[in-house]
Amino acid sequence: MLTREQVIEAAGRVKRPGDGEGKGVAVRDVVVKDRRVWLTVLTPDGGKDASLEAALREALAAIGAESVHVRFAAESGGGAGGGQSGTPGAAQPSAGAGQVRGHGTGLEHHPLLRPDSGVVFIAVASGKGGVGKSTVTVNLAVALARLGKRVGIIDADIYGFSVPDMMGIEERPVIEHERVLPVERFGVKVMSMGFFVEDNSPVIWRGPMLGRMLRNFFADVEWGELDYMLLDLPPGTGDIALDVHQMIPQSKEILVTTPHATAAFVAARAGAMAVKTRHEILGVIENMSYYVCPSCGGRQYVFGRGGGARLAETLHTDLLAQIPLGAPDNHPSEPDFSPSVYKADTETGRLYEEAARAIIAKCGK
Ligand SMILES: Nc1ncnc2c1ncn2[C@@H]1O[C@H](COP(=O)(O)OP(=O)(O)O)[C@@H](O)[C@H]1O
Ligand SMILES: [Mg+2]
Repeated sequence: MLTREQVIEAAGRVKRPGDGEGKGVAVRDVVVKDRRVWLTVLTPDGGKDASLEAALREALAAIGAESVHVRFAAESGGGAGGGQSGTPGAAQPSAGAGQVRGHGTGLEHHPLLRPDSGVVFIAVASGKGGVGKSTVTVNLAVALARLGKRVGIIDADIYGFSVPDMMGIEERPVIEHERVLPVERFGVKVMSMGFFVEDNSPVIWRGPMLGRMLRNFFADVEWGELDYMLLDLPPGTGDIALDVHQMIPQSKEILVTTPHATAAFVAARAGAMAVKTRHEILGVIENMSYYVCPSCGGRQYVFGRGGGARLAETLHTDLLAQIPLGAPDNHPSEPDFSPSVYKADTETGRLYEEAARAIIAKCGK
């Protein structure tokens, strides 16, 4: 098995050309999964150094790494955005990506991803699917927008996209001057793979293409100014989740779990990845926490109790909300119908608003 320590040690043995006796390559945000490696290489100005990258790849291949995802960041900076995937082919700009700034699809100069952009990125993660991650993403985004924030959602669950349907979006993005305009709904700008798939046909793209798609969601999309960008991650700790960690090192994270002990235990793994990649965890949202008995008003804890609180404790963070079971009471006849957005004046709507306020307080934005 390849360990993180081995990777760091091997990187330390790669000398920077021209550094003479100098120190080895400085790396950060090292994640190792099976034989795949993700890491950030620090260079003086954060620029890509092809010969250094080649030497590093060789050194890591020698200790058994099968794939190496490299991005570059400035030595002093807090972590400029911009991912450079190590996957062959992933570095080519997409058709219509002529506006991409920086090198190739390296997004380090993208206005949203620059550390001084002021945009707060929040990745919404969970250990397993079906716990309500997308529902939480959508409702937190809408709650932030209701509080006057400029909000975007990237539906990064590229296979399992569901955000457009959940928000009741029927239109498709408009393309203007070769730029894609996100679809706006309930004051939130949305971009999703679902907009580009015909008739809900399955997405059978392989990893590198998925990573490229994610890049395009930044490079080719006209987001305008934003205060918050929420990313609905795929469940678990897979490659896309890692790509997001690498592409947006400044991203903060929210974990979604159900109250069930197993769900919380699995979510802790996703949390551990955030800790490893040094993403600040803003808090935990426990979904499907209880059912309110319609006749007696009492709470029934159908899925057990305590998972969210325990997860928050494990990760040294706060439990931001406990959302009860129950779909929104929306009707298709309403002009603003959506299947999954809770109205502001409902109990659940208020819980999301409280969570949004807590997030705003934590992010100072
Ligand atoms: N609090 C809740 N009460 C009732 N149903 C919910 C709740 N949260 C989510 N759901 C439903 O559960 C299913 C899974 O939720 P979803 O947000 O798609 O989960 P994930 O993104 O984690 O896979 C969806 O059908 C969704 O409408
Ligand atoms: Mg989902």
